[in-house]
Formats: sequence, C-alpha cells, structure tokens
Amino acid sequence: MTKAVIPAAGLGTRFLPATKAMPKEMLPVVDRPAIQYVVSEAVNAGLNDVLMITGRSKRALEDHFDRVPGLEMALEAKGDEKKLSLVREATGLGDIHYVRQGDPKGLGHAVLCAKQHVGNEPFAVLLGDDLIDARDELLTIMIDVQAKTGGSVIALMEVDPQQISAYGCADVSTVEGEDFVKINHLVEKPSIEEAPSNLAIIGRYLLHPRVFDVLQKTKPGRGNEIQLTDALEELASAEGEGAGVHAVVFRGRRYDTGDKLSYLQANVVLAAEHEDLGEDFKTWVKEYAKTLD
Ligand code: UTP
Repeated sequence: MTKAVIPAAGLGTRFLPATKAMPKEMLPVVDRPAIQYVVSEAVNAGLNDVLMITGRSKRALEDHFDRVPGLEMALEAKGDEKKLSLVREATGLGDIHYVRQGDPKGLGHAVLCAKQHVGNEPFAVLLGDDLIDARDELLTIMIDVQAKTGGSVIALMEVDPQQISAYGCADVSTVEGEDFVKINHLVEKPSIEEAPSNLAIIGRYLLHPRVFDVLQKTKPGRGNEIQLTDALEELASAEGEGAGVHAVVFRGRRYDTGDKLSYLQANVVLAAEHEDLGEDFKTWVKEYAKTLD
C-alpha cells in the first residue's frame, strides 16, 4: 500500500469564525498545522503518495507544502539553520497531490473524489483533524490487518457512552485468535439509545477500492451528506472480492482538533510534551491552574 487520501474539504462550521477563510486542518497545533502531523504519520507508515481533497480556501494548504524560496533565502542569509529546517520540514514530505471536491457533500463524497488517483488498489484515508500520537502505532497495524483480511479496515476507540452520538458507532464480534474485530454493523452518529456499543469510529481507514463502487450509489444519509460510514455498512455485509470490514481498537493517544474544546485540550497536552516549550509551559500551567477555582 502506498497511497494515502486526506480529506480536508469540510466546512469546519464547529470552528467558526477561525475557519471562515482557512481550512480547519490548517489551524496550528502548538507550532505546526494539524495536517502536517497527519501527512507525517502517513509518510512514516510508508504511504508516500498523498492525495489531499481540498475545498474552498485551499491556497493555504497547498502553499504550506510548497517551497517558499524568498523565506528560505532570507533564513539562509541569516544562517538560521534551525528555522530553515522547520520551513523545509513540510516540503520534504512525500509526494503530495491535490484534487478539488467542488461541493462539500460529505466525507463519502470526498473519498469518491480520490477514485481516479487511487485506481484499483487498497488505500488509506486519514482525517486531517484527527491526530494520532506519533509514539503510538496504528496505521502499520491496520496495514497488516488489511493484508490478512483483504477487505477494508477501520479504527475504533472506546468513548464515554454519552459522547457516542458525535461519532460513527460499530457493532462488532471478536475474531478467534486475533487482536482485531469484525464489523457487523455501523451507524453514523446514533442517539445514545440507538447506539449498539461505545466503540466510535476514528479518522483512520484502510479501504478496498470496491468502496468506490458502493459510494457511487450511496444516497445522502445523516445530515443529508454522503456518509463513508453508510458505504462501509454496506461493504460489511457484502460478499465476494473486497467485501468485509474489520477494525483495530486503538488504545493510544488521539487528539481531536475539529472542535474548539478538544482543539484547546490537544494544544495543552502537546505543548506540555513539546521538546523546546514543554518545561516552561508546564511551569506556567501549574501556576495558572492555582488561580482557577
Ligand atoms: P467533519 O465531520 O468534521 O465535518 O468532517 P466538517 O464539515 O469538516 O466540520 P463541521 O462539522 O462543519 O465543523 C470530517 C473530515 O472530512 C472532511 C473534513 O475536512 C474532515 O477532515 N470532509 C467532510 C470533506 O473533505 N468533505 C466533506 O464534504 C465533508
């Protein structure tokens, strides 16, 4: 597997007004845009061919992964090697391509926009507002499971049952002798009463190309959007080549940057662990916490 698709064409309405003229995936998490962590994760797992699905205000995204000769020359002239390497960090990452999703008709529709680039091979989808800690393994485990099962593989995480209606939710069965589970059913953003479990779908998917045939026929679902969850629900019970969906239950560190509160939490956690800022930041946070009731 060599291809990763990163949808970044959503409207980001939970983060207005910050996302009025900028994709939420470009919001900085400590000192790098969220999407840079996600591209690094893909490349570190061996997925060097990255396709971004962009929407309105795509310029910032493309520019971030492009060379900036003027800035680089200025830093070179100053002999500022450290900043120069930070600027170049994003340009040395993988082979990045872009395709436009004309209308944000949902995550399923965004994935369908990757059909031509992906072709007929399994591929990864990483959501640009969902960060997996670089110290925790997830994608490589999913790649192994996909090689074993042949269908599609998703990532799940246990959440507080009160939170499940913010996620896609999975009904699963164990697979004898394996660490992964089999998906029986998936439902997008169920009410607490309807939810079959507290296992939430998180933003990492390894999809069999058959998903494109299903997405082409998937009708708009929840929120009148074409839902990837609905296409995967169909694949879970389908027969033949490329059918079946399995899942890895992730127990590591995940940071959601898609809404204001979880974004702030992600920044605090990652700033406290930051190589240069961490110690000073923690000292300040402790002092600040004392001033809170
Ligand atoms: P979200 O469910 O977070 O939706 O999308 P959103 O529109 O971006 O944000 P809110 O809910 O209005 O605040 C999950 C991922 O799918 C992408 C988003 O960019 C995000 O990475 N997406 C969603 C698309 O690329 N296209 C779409 O039509 C919808």
